[in-house]
Amino acid sequence: MCGITGYIGGDKTTEVLLDGLRRLEYRGYDSCGIAVVDGKNSLYLKRVSGRVDALDKLVSAEPVKGAKAGVGHTRWATHGAPSEDNAHPHTDCSGEVVVVHNGIIENYLELKEKLLAGGHKFKSETDTEVIAHLLEEKLKSLHVQAAAMRSDMLEPVFFEAFRRTVADLKGSFALAVVWARCPAMILAARLHSPLVVGLGQGENYVASDVSAFLKYTKRVVFLNDGEMAAVRRDGVDYYNFAGKKISRDSVVIQWDSTMAEKGGYKHFMLKEIHEQAEAVENTLRGRLLPLGGPALEQEMGLTTAAMKAFSAVQFVACGTAYHACLVGRVLFENFGVHASADWASEFTDRARLLDKGTLVVAISQSGETADTLFAVREAKAAGAKVLAITNTVGSTLTREADHVLYTHCGPEIGVASTKAFLGQLAALYLLAGHFAAARGSLGKTDARRYAEELLKVPRLIEEILAQEKEIARVAQAFSHSEHFLFISRHVNYPIALEGALKIKEISYVHAEGYAAGEMKHGPIAIIYKGMPVLAVATSGRALELTAGNVEEAKARGADVVAIVDQDSKKTVKASRYVVLPRTEELFTPMLTVIPLQIFAYYVALAKKCDIDKPRNLAKSVTVR
Ligand code: M6R
Repeated sequence: MCGITGYIGGDKTTEVLLDGLRRLEYRGYDSCGIAVVDGKNSLYLKRVSGRVDALDKLVSAEPVKGAKAGVGHTRWATHGAPSEDNAHPHTDCSGEVVVVHNGIIENYLELKEKLLAGGHKFKSETDTEVIAHLLEEKLKSLHVQAAAMRSDMLEPVFFEAFRRTVADLKGSFALAVVWARCPAMILAARLHSPLVVGLGQGENYVASDVSAFLKYTKRVVFLNDGEMAAVRRDGVDYYNFAGKKISRDSVVIQWDSTMAEKGGYKHFMLKEIHEQAEAVENTLRGRLLPLGGPALEQEMGLTTAAMKAFSAVQFVACGTAYHACLVGRVLFENFGVHASADWASEFTDRARLLDKGTLVVAISQSGETADTLFAVREAKAAGAKVLAITNTVGSTLTREADHVLYTHCGPEIGVASTKAFLGQLAALYLLAGHFAAARGSLGKTDARRYAEELLKVPRLIEEILAQEKEIARVAQAFSHSEHFLFISRHVNYPIALEGALKIKEISYVHAEGYAAGEMKHGPIAIIYKGMPVLAVATSGRALELTAGNVEEAKARGADVVAIVDQDSKKTVKASRYVVLPRTEELFTPMLTVIPLQIFAYYVALAKKCDIDKPRNLAKSVTVR
């Protein structure tokens, strides 16, 4: 959460920084700012409470000439309200040191106290500002006669002061720092918060996410925890926190910057909903047949013998990815493997009870979610092996996990996750199928049927997407409701949770997802006349019971929208229907979630909500 961007080299400094911030806005968007050093070594700093468009206006009104280096930041508030004063970059007392920071400095109060005692004046409530003052203090302690020294001679001093500053910080941070007296170098450091260097020709970049500079370069170096970088126009040097030079290899990113543009859709969320057939196809491609064959096993580094040896699977994740975990649990149990699923943020004590026979499967679109990473570290400390399912190549999760299964969905920009969820589900069906085949619980004929059913999914998704207008009309009819209830059972229970989460996060109205059979044990009391209840009731073993629960809701006045197929429609009596193409019950979550995403999108649209950047949220949640 929060976005960092930095640039050094050419003449397009403000353009690159603002463009990067726009692309990073999904990480946080309550305030933003840039700082650049102009041709005369003076610092130019602009910050706003609000969005990048407002910052752009401010910068355009007073363009800065000759800027060759700078940093920018878009914020998701942790310490201090969203305001101009709390927006990054932050400066020291001299106004020459600027810092942008993602993460949390846990010992900032202790540091601040000392700095205040030493006469430093603070201008914000943030933890970040201590870094600027601490760096100022370290520069002083190195007795810099800055005025008398050439800026290139100052580089080793700047580096050493920065290294000493970083050594005093506790917590999590991605940092990019500029010192006006030494404008030919940006310093960066990473601990538990992502940071990546982009390599250009005569110009280089630093950012919290490659999307910030993908338009300019695809050659990148992902910094590891405990690493620093000195970024100059014609090269980048890498160091560990002890200041020892290290060598780092670059990788080339396959994503294209146009993949992160709206392509004619009103919102990224709608575009991404429409990309779901392709997302599933991409995740399945080349990995399905022969099921149980070596291809996927080699890719994940999990042998048949290892898959046989695990006695249980433990899923961990947050938010939408957690709902994917709940589907995963049903899939594995369906094949006779003990499975459980937990929110990563509630996993701590359970991690200690893990035994080595349990495979921990951590699911994360971004691969940077702090709660999930922490759960993974706890699991590894307990001796468990970890498999990551993620969409993000080079993310922290991929580097910390023992095995990785990529979802290949392309960038997901909308804060509300849609296509990443479908990719996660597709990966889980692959994984469960491979496990079952390896353990002999899916014979050759059944494996072929399983694979055939999965391969049909993208086409069925397209059929559902073709019903967008009808689903939009249903959503329109309920757009003034203040409460929504989503119910289902068994493999679609997680989809009821996901439907409710989508409404909550983009429409800001109350929505509950509940196990249909559990309603009568209390929550049914909330139903009032006209309350919208969305019931997922497709054909299968849960149908009769779910249809009964729909009757109970209707008897208390609920207005029921049923998500059904042609056959189950005969059993479920509702006032409105969304009719889905038929597939086997086990595979239905990949279909049933689509109308709920579309429904949530159109409720939010009718309410004129900011769909891609819902209030209070950020795409990548890198604090715990
Ligand atoms: O990047 P991750 O998959 O780890 O993110 C986990 C959650 O923060 C995320 O799914 C969140 O719940 C989404 N906004 C839901 O739409």
